[in-house]
Amino acid sequence: MSTATPPSDAPVVHTVTLVGPRGFGATYRARLAALTAQGRVRLGAVVSPDDPAGLDDLPDGTPWFRTLEENLASEDPAVRPDVVIVSTPIHTHLPITEVALRAGCDVMLEKPPVPSAADHATLLRLVEETGRLCQVGFQTFGSTAVAEVERIVASGEIGEVVSVGTVGTWTRPASYWARAPWAGRRVLDGVEVVDGVVTNPLAHAVATALRVGGVRRTDDVAEVEVDHFHANPIEADDTSSVRVVATSGVTFGFGLSLCAPVRTPSRITVYGTLGRVVLYYETDRVEVQLPEGVRFVQGDRVPLLDDLLDVRERRAERELLCSLDATGAFTQVVEAVRSAPAPRRVPEDLVRWVGEGGDRRPVVTEVEEWCERVAARSQTFAAAGAPWAV
Ligand SMILES: NC(=O)c1ccc[n+]([C@@H]2O[C@H](COP(=O)([O-])OP(=O)(O)OC[C@H]3O[C@@H](n4cnc5c(N)ncnc54)[C@H](O)[C@@H]3O)[C@@H](O)[C@H]2O)c1
Repeated sequence: MSTATPPSDAPVVHTVTLVGPRGFGATYRARLAALTAQGRVRLGAVVSPDDPAGLDDLPDGTPWFRTLEENLASEDPAVRPDVVIVSTPIHTHLPITEVALRAGCDVMLEKPPVPSAADHATLLRLVEETGRLCQVGFQTFGSTAVAEVERIVASGEIGEVVSVGTVGTWTRPASYWARAPWAGRRVLDGVEVVDGVVTNPLAHAVATALRVGGVRRTDDVAEVEVDHFHANPIEADDTSSVRVVATSGVTFGFGLSLCAPVRTPSRITVYGTLGRVVLYYETDRVEVQLPEGVRFVQGDRVPLLDDLLDVRERRAERELLCSLDATGAFTQVVEAVRSAPAPRRVPEDLVRWVGEGGDRRPVVTEVEEWCERVAARSQTFAAAGAPWAV
């Protein structure tokens, strides 16, 4: 159905289907409205099991289908997509993306792309077989700040890279875990979901740290060690340490928790022999720390849906900013989380509960300090001696 569009001065209008209009789909509804106003896209249809009634920002009369298959089978050519956005629960990504790719559509797929290394390999094969584009929604990959860190590292300004340390200390209340049946699950109805702090809320921290440390593809990763815990009454992890060793020899430490006293900006530090670069990826801010002083760089972002359209139109003669292939290393971490023994519970005497009802949340004692420590030393909580891990 969909054909690669030759370069031309004539404006190209892409017909888009949004699968999963609620939840994070709100971000795509907003982006689609902006791109529609620019004349670049037309929202052909939305797909979701539940009626999208009440989503007032959808254009009047937007056709709704319960499944992508029904959308694709429609007699009406106006609803048949060139591009499919998949912003649905993690465990539905592969089957929906497969249907889209096999129908000749290009895909904007939310992160994490899939819950296992085997599914990643399957999806990569499908992308190759169909020759279609599959952009993954790690929006930091569209950040000029990330590109700037990569440039600084490649320039040798901070010397040789030794390690990369990532700290993410956030908060999430009970209502976050109650919002969807798959939230905080490792497995749902026999299907692997792998929705914990490492693979979902702080997935950007993991994928972006690996990328600025020169690790993108599956075979860039030599080793992954996961030591994960939960303080919430969930199946998955909410307080985790991960140690990654790259084939290049660079080590990565991750201290990630959703049980901090307050949410702080996540930060990725690249430690070099001559200095450090710190990336605050949520705000696209870069801090370069050298013996002669500190300087800051403020970046901005290209939305990944726009980038997919650019590459589709061949306006950009290059790879996608976040191709599926470039999420292979991140998926090795997902795989390590998936295949690790279930997370252990943080002992009650190390947890303080704050808030009421849907706002109630746990705070793990000194979690910020231990996350800093494992990140800086590329260690696990157990190796560092965190009290809940001994
Ligand atoms: N890039 C980011 O910063 C970011 C942030 C949050 C969430 N996400 C990702 O977005 C995706 C959606 O997360 P969410 O929290 O919005 O999920 P959600 O459970 O709220 O569902 C989102 C939408 O998917 C629809 N849906 C559910 N099952 C479906 C199916 N089988 N077929 C079609 N539609 C279906 C729902 O009706 C809803 O419209 C996940 O992959 C999540 O990890 C990304």
